[in-house]
Order: sequence, then structure tokens, then C-alpha cells
Amino acid sequence: MSSVIVVGSANVDHVVEIDHRPVGGETVLGSDLVLTPGGKGANQAVAAGLAGGNVAFLGCVGTDGSGDLLIGSLASAGVDLGALSRVEAPTGVAMIMLTPDGENSIIVAPGANRHVTPELVASQAELLADARVVVAQLEIPLESVVEAVWQAPNARLVLNAAPAATLPVELIRECNPLVVNESEAAFLLGTEETDDGAALAAALLELGAQSVVVTLGGAGAYVAEAGQEPVHVPAVRVDPVDTTGAGDGFVGALAVRLDEGASLAEAAGFAARFAAIAVTRRGAQASYPRRDEVAKPA
Ligand code: RIB
Repeated sequence: MSSVIVVGSANVDHVVEIDHRPVGGETVLGSDLVLTPGGKGANQAVAAGLAGGNVAFLGCVGTDGSGDLLIGSLASAGVDLGALSRVEAPTGVAMIMLTPDGENSIIVAPGANRHVTPELVASQAELLADARVVVAQLEIPLESVVEAVWQAPNARLVLNAAPAATLPVELIRECNPLVVNESEAAFLLGTEETDDGAALAAALLELGAQSVVVTLGGAGAYVAEAGQEPVHVPAVRVDPVDTTGAGDGFVGALAVRLDEGASLAEAAGFAARFAAIAVTRRGAQASYPRRDEVAKPA
């Protein structure tokens, strides 16, 4: 029986390296195209599996070769695929432009991810009822995320609110934690983007979340729990080559340590070390370390 259930998207990432992002009307030549397994949900499931979790993935892929690629990646990370459906739609695609600083720009064509409906989620009621941690993101319909929370009354919800979207207050109240980066935090708060992670974390708690993690890339993260001051979690200094999926790696690793009973700050420290390794390697799922590669803090 799986204790961590990841409900979400699966995409094949179509990655081209370019020296600068094209502006409107501009054509740039890039590297050869690389196809690699991705999607925020599948990334988080693979990360959680490699981090040592007992993980199942609830999502959809097509009956195409891209679906086979994702199934292979999830299975090799030890993720239970009993709740994965193959549907008559193309597997989700992400088009990713990667620049020399390791940053990316992403467009997602959801395809099969649109088939992760509330009805499909409800059909996995038994799996969700036994979950200790439910992990979700927002590349599937929001109402399906709400259904997963409804079907898992005993679980702790780790919600990565990415891509940014307006959330019902009832869902925010279930988050323990709500995990966002600076721009997603600013969207939820309706404010200007800032790198003041402590202020963002405190303001997000005011929205009603039980706890919050604001990730700040190379500046680490802030964690905050209701009634307590935000705590800074330092990043590990590395030279990034590809940040794609690093945030997803953070979320998957965080969920596993929370399931193991770690405090939010401890779990975020482990997740930061996990993500630091990921950014030194290319790809999303392909970049994730195994648990024994993640060093203990000095
Ligand atoms: O967070 C990174 C992921 O976002 C990529 O793997 C891509 O598939 C998009 O979903």
C-alpha cells in the first residue's frame, strides 16, 4: 500500500537549448531536440520514489510512445502505477527553451492530462482513503485536485500551486504545506513579486494555509507554520546547468520526509539538498538523485 499519492500531470518534455529567448517575430537556431520524461506530477512522483518514498501516481498518459516513456521512468523510480490510466488522447507535451544560465521557459499542451477528471480521481477512492500524504499541482483540472483532497480525509496535503492559479479558500486551508515560488506567491497574494521570502510566507499563512514553503531558487526557501515565525532554509551552492523540474524534485523529496515524520524545516532542508543535485544535471526526472546521493547536513 502506498502512503504518498501524487495526483497530477505527466508530460514528455521537448527541450531545445538556445543562446537567448526569441522575441516576437524572431527566429533563433537551437540545439537538436531532446525528448525526456517530465510533467510536474510525474516529476514529483519520480522524485518521491527516488527519495525513498512508498509512492503511487494518479494521472493519465496516452497510448502513444510518449506514454511508454513516462511509464518507464515512473516504474524505474519504483512508483506504483495501479492508478495510472492510458487514455485516447496524446500524452501531455511540454515545449521547453533552455538558456545557458540554466533557466527555462515552458509551454504545456495538456493532452491526456485533461482526462484526470474528478470522476477518475473518485474511482481511486480506496487508494486515497489510505494515503498519509497527498501531493498535487495545477497542471490538471483544479476540481480534480479538490476531489483528491475530499477523497483523502486522513492525508496531509502538499499542494504545489504551479502553474499559478486562483485557489478556493477551502483548498488553501487544507494545505500543509502550500509550496510556491516567489512569482506564484505574489499571484496568490495579488501583490508585486518580491524576494522577501519571510514576508511572502507570513502573508500566505494569513490566507489560511496550515503551513507554507516559499522556494527562492539559489536563495533557499522559507518555511512557516501557523502561529510561528518563518524559518530560512539555506540552499546548497552549486553551478546550475538546468533548473527544469528542480522545484518538482524539491516537492517530491519534501513529501517523503514529511511522511517519515520530519519537521517541515528538516524536510525542506533535505528537499533543498535533493534539488541542488538536480540542477547540476540535465532534464527533469533524469536529473533526480537517489536518496543515498543526498548528503546529510554538515
Ligand atoms: O516543472 C517542470 C515541468 O513543468 C516540466 O517537466 C514540464 O513538463 C512542465 O510540466
